[in-house]
Amino acid sequence: MTYSPTLPAAAIILAAGKGTRMKSALPKVMHKVAGTPMVGHVLSMAEEAGLSPLTLVISSEQESVKSYAKQANAEVRIVHQSEQLGTAHAVLAAREALSGFTGNLVVLYGDTPLIRAQTVSALLATLESDPKVAVAVLGFRAPYENAYGRLIVNAAGELDAIVEYKEATPEQRAVELCNSGVMVLRGDVAWDLLSSIGNSNAKGEYYLTDIIALARNAGYTARYTETWPEEVLGVNSRVELAVAEAVLQSELRLRAMENGATLIAPDTIYLSSDTMLGRDVIIEPHVVFGSGVTIGDDVEIRSYSHISGATIEKGAVIGPFARIRPGTTVGEDAKIGNFVEVKKSIIEQGAKISHLSYIGDATIGAEANIGAGTITCNYDGYSKSRTVVGREAFIGSNTALVAPVTVGERAIVAAGSVITEDVAADALAVARARQAQKYGWAEYFRTTHKKD
Ligand code: UD1
Ligand code: CA
Repeated sequence: MTYSPTLPAAAIILAAGKGTRMKSALPKVMHKVAGTPMVGHVLSMAEEAGLSPLTLVISSEQESVKSYAKQANAEVRIVHQSEQLGTAHAVLAAREALSGFTGNLVVLYGDTPLIRAQTVSALLATLESDPKVAVAVLGFRAPYENAYGRLIVNAAGELDAIVEYKEATPEQRAVELCNSGVMVLRGDVAWDLLSSIGNSNAKGEYYLTDIIALARNAGYTARYTETWPEEVLGVNSRVELAVAEAVLQSELRLRAMENGATLIAPDTIYLSSDTMLGRDVIIEPHVVFGSGVTIGDDVEIRSYSHISGATIEKGAVIGPFARIRPGTTVGEDAKIGNFVEVKKSIIEQGAKISHLSYIGDATIGAEANIGAGTITCNYDGYSKSRTVVGREAFIGSNTALVAPVTVGERAIVAAGSVITEDVAADALAVARARQAQKYGWAEYFRTTHKKD
């Protein structure tokens, strides 16, 4: 049975840390996992969990985080923590932005992107299970060496304290139960407890984890729930970023298969967190989905294709070795073959672009056939222009369509043409030098060039 929390709860997402170990000009939480910045994952999870309002704590140098977050969720309240004095200090930075809010508080980390809404809901349910509980912490077991804070649990199974690794005794370090950092706080006592946290410790920081012992001293209790280490993986380095990517990819592949797609070699397929796959989709090995892709039912995507920002409609076949770029719609039963690049184009139902072509800023009509080596010349160095090919038109191989240009319905363009003027419906357009023939010339050439 799933328990849904009853009280409103606000999210406080901590993301002001420097992220030095990423060795990056980009703020840590802007690094992507499955095509979405880590902070984007946390924001959409918070939304899914029904948390509101959402506050995001950043440092003043992180304007890119601010603009991304605002665009991901217009309601998010951005809070600046001017100096990074510790996790409790960071949570307190959100106090003003939440003034007047009396519900519970959920503390999340911007660099812990894999946490699920149901886990947060279960943690809130633990908080609400008893009015004496002031804090609930999400823990996990890590039976390997690590520097996470340790959850110290008493005989009653309640949380006595969280001890930071740096402050822990050898016995405490031997505890396998670790602090994920995710924590929920009772709204009516949280701010008082937070303000009483001091900084006399190994790092001279205001540790959020001290709130457990303080809550107990004030007569409250603290509880914890447990999850898998993978879900609360904190990303501090590129290596951990790759681990998070691997964990999320296997989850996305699993979900795709559960929803009715065949992934022939799942480990070789890269999905984005927003990839939508229909039923009976078949994906051959080594396919990459960038963000913003929707694939209809019965679509087949052959090996080594790269698709982003595109919609592929029912029954279409893509690849092998196809590149479908943003702004493209491939209509029902259309076929995009090998070494074909399509950008910002509409390929209507049943059209075929089977080999070696570049189609950009174009509309290709239903059932049209685009021959091998067709190129839309869509860019003159200054601006982009459109190409329109009418339904059932036939474009011969190695044609250059110099945009802006329109080829009418059912027209035929001869192979090797450079089309610079519109072609009328049902016309034949030939735009190449006429072939000349000199009879016997080859034989003459051979006899006058005899080798010794
Ligand atoms: C923290 C926990 C530790 C836990 C671990 C899980 C504390 C004192 N320790 O340690 O028990 O096992 O997370 O990953 O809470 N941040 C700010 N402002 C600050 C400091 C931090 O926004 O002044 C943010 C960081 O950007 C990061 C998060 O808070 O998202 C955690 O901070 P970090 O310094 O990485 O904490 P840890 O030492 O890893
Ligand atoms: Ca950390």
